[in-house]
Amino acid sequence: MTSSLPLNVVILAAGKGTRMKSAVPKVFHAAAGRSLLEWVLAAVEGLAPERLHVVIGPEGEDHLAGLSGMERATVSVQHERKGTGHAVMQAQDALRDALGYTLVLYADTPLVTTQALRAFVDDTMADDADVAMTVFETDHPARYGRVILDPGNRPTAIIEAKDATPEQLAVRLCNGGLMLARSTVLFDLLAQTDDKNAAGEFYITDIVSLARAANLRTRASVFDQSLLAGVNSRAELAAVEGVLQTRLRSALMDAGVTMTAPETVTLCHDTRIGQDTVIEPNVFFGPGVTVGTKCRLRAGSYFEGAQVGEEVIVGPMARLREGTVLDDAVKVGNFVEIKKAHLAPGAKAPHLTYVGDAEVGAKANLGAGTITCNYDGVNKHQTVIGAGAFIGSNSALVAPVSIGDGALVGAGSTITEDIPADAIVTTRGTTKIKPGAAERYRERLRSIKARKDASSKR
Ligand code: UD1
Ligand code: MG
Repeated sequence: MTSSLPLNVVILAAGKGTRMKSAVPKVFHAAAGRSLLEWVLAAVEGLAPERLHVVIGPEGEDHLAGLSGMERATVSVQHERKGTGHAVMQAQDALRDALGYTLVLYADTPLVTTQALRAFVDDTMADDADVAMTVFETDHPARYGRVILDPGNRPTAIIEAKDATPEQLAVRLCNGGLMLARSTVLFDLLAQTDDKNAAGEFYITDIVSLARAANLRTRASVFDQSLLAGVNSRAELAAVEGVLQTRLRSALMDAGVTMTAPETVTLCHDTRIGQDTVIEPNVFFGPGVTVGTKCRLRAGSYFEGAQVGEEVIVGPMARLREGTVLDDAVKVGNFVEIKKAHLAPGAKAPHLTYVGDAEVGAKANLGAGTITCNYDGVNKHQTVIGAGAFIGSNSALVAPVSIGDGALVGAGSTITEDIPADAIVTTRGTTKIKPGAAERYRERLRSIKARKDASSKR
C-alpha cells in the first residue's frame, strides 16, 4: 500500500507572537510543563518521520537548547517573516530531495494528536493525492482561509480571508492549516508562488491552485477543529492549558487514580502516578514527578522532581522539591519541605520540618520543627540520620552532621557534631525555677510605671 511511503515533517515556529506581549517567542511558552513547540514535536514523534525540520525565527535560536524532541531535528532560521510559504521554503535545503511526502504544521497548535495526524497522512497516501489539506466547517469562518471545492469535492483553491470576494467569504469550509504534499511537488509549487496578495506574503495555501493548474490531485481531509486551536494570546494559552490538563487528568483517572476534585489538580505532561493513589484538591505537579501505587496526596501539596514510592502519605500542604526520593510507606505531613533528600521505608516527618541534602534511615522519626541546617551561606552540606533514629521537636541539625542508628535527640537540641548509634543527646540549657518570682517582677514594673506617671503630671 502507498501508506508506507516515507514521511517528512516541517514545523513552522518562526512566529513572533506579537499579541503574547512577551520577550519570549510564542512557541517557547509552556502549557502543562512544556513548550508549545515540544507538544507538537511529541505529536509528530509518533509518526516516526524520516526527516524532521523546524523553521524558527531569529529570536528563537536562544531558546532551542534542551528542548525535548529536537534531538533529530534540523533547523533553519527565517530571518524575515514573509509568509507561511516563505517559511516552508526555508526547509528546502533540508528536504528538497526527501522521499515520499512532507507534512507541514504550525508550532503554535499544541493540541494536535499523533492519532489525528496519522489518519490524515494515511488517508492522503491511500488516495494517492499530491497535495492535501485539513479542513473543517464552521459558522464562524473569521480569518481562516476559505477552501473552494470542485463538483467532485476536490479543492481547487484556498482563498485567504483578506483576499476573498464577498461570495468566497460566505464559504464555511476552512483551511485547518496542516498541509501534506509529495516532497518534490511541494518545493516545485512553492517556487511558483508570489507575494501579490493583500498581505504581501508568500502563502503556502497558493500551492493548491498551482497544483490544480498542473493537473495534480488535491484532497481535503476533514479534521477536528478543536485539535487545531492555535495560541496567539495569553488567554488562548490559558485555554490550551485547560484542554491539556483535562486530557492529562482523564488519562490518570482512566489508569486508576482517584481525584476528588480533578479540576483543581495541576499536572505536568510527564507526571506519572500509580494505581489506587488518591489525589486530594489543589495538588500541583511540576516536571519530573513519579508517584507509586496506593499513595495519598493530601490537599494543597506541591511536587516537582520527586520520586515517591508506594503507600506514601504526603501533606496536606507539603512541598517536595527536586531530588526528593520517598521510599515505600514514608509519611510526610503538613508544612514539610523536602529537597535533595532520600527518606528510607517507613521514615516519618509528620509536621513543620525542612529536610534538605539528607539521607534519612528507615523508620526514623523527625519531630515537629526539625530543621536540617544545610546551608552555611556559601556551601550546602549533607545530613545523615540513621535508621530508627528519633529527632525531638524543634531540633536544628547543623550539617555536615550524622545521627547514628537508633539515636535519640532531645527536643530543642542544636546538633553540631556526629552522634553515635543509640546515644541520647540533649543540648538545651538548664531549667531554673524561681517560685513566686513572677509576681515580684510584675510588682516592680508597676511601681516604676506609677513613678513615671506621677512625674509626667507635675
Ligand atoms: C493560515 C492559513 C489559513 C488557515 C490558517 C489556519 C496561510 C497563508 N493561511 O493563516 O488558510 O486557515 O492558517 O490557522 O497559510 N509563520 C511563520 N513564518 C511566516 C508566517 C507564518 O513561521 O512568515 C508561522 C506562524 O508563526 C504560525 C503559522 O505559520 O504558526 C501560521 O501563520 P499565520 O500568520 O497565523 O497564518 P494565518 O493567517 O492564521
Ligand atoms: Mg494563525
